[in-house]
Amino acid sequence: MPQKFQQLKKAKRLKKSSQKWLLRQVNDPFVEKAQKEGWRSRAAFKIIEVDQKFKIFKQGKVVVDLGAAPGGWSQYAVTKVGEGNVVAIDLLEIPSIAGVNFFQQDFLEENAAEKIISELKKIPHNKSGLCDAVLSDMAANTTGDHQTDHMRIIALLEEALILAEKILKEGGVFVGKIFQGGSSNEILKRLRESFSVVKYFKPDSSRKDSSETYLVATGFKSKNFAAEIRKEILRKS
Ligand SMILES: C[S@@+](CC[C@H](N)C(=O)[O-])C[C@H]1O[C@@H](n2cnc3c(N)ncnc32)[C@H](O)[C@@H]1O
Repeated sequence: MPQKFQQLKKAKRLKKSSQKWLLRQVNDPFVEKAQKEGWRSRAAFKIIEVDQKFKIFKQGKVVVDLGAAPGGWSQYAVTKVGEGNVVAIDLLEIPSIAGVNFFQQDFLEENAAEKIISELKKIPHNKSGLCDAVLSDMAANTTGDHQTDHMRIIALLEEALILAEKILKEGGVFVGKIFQGGSSNEILKRLRESFSVVKYFKPDSSRKDSSETYLVATGFKSKNFAAEIRKEILRKS
């Protein structure tokens, strides 16, 4: 029995909200494309589009992927930067991806940043413990209340940015998921101070009916961040 037909049959037995989700999956060309091409999630196409537009990855660069499960972004990043150069974290466990150093943890826990830095330091050519790109596709489960969802995603984005400011190399890149609308002015202001160029980017593969979009900030200005403080953070981890 074709997979699509099986899924539609299954949908009839589910709750309305789950039916809606499953039908959307079945009819989504990016879901089908991801399955065909071997990506773990349709989200892979979003980072592919970001990379095509902003050229964020190069062989040998070091990448931190926050909110990595089920693994599409990490899968793509490792093909571009090379095995051993991606450190990834998520609340959820995932089957391992060759060349990606994944660990399961809540990024909002106090010791998460230290753990990431200590993993970065283990990369043989990366004794500084810094990295070239911090990616955050983190999203808390949606509540349906736009304001609450927005606040939660902003909180995750803010924490991701705090980490990026500690660990990015000069000229580094930050990519973060955000929902359009609402109060993201503070974050925008801060990004503009810390990076040379800051752009909103909604990939074609991001669902049209979702207010999700991405902030892509390039050209990190590490000199704006007191060298002594950065050194101290890196020393402690
Ligand atoms: C949209 S998914 C990421 C998809 C991923 N980029 C991919 O390519 O497969 C968002 C992820 O953020 C994770 N997440 C949400 N809050 C988190 C937190 N506090 N710490 C770590 N991960 C978190 C979720 O568990 C979820 O797996």
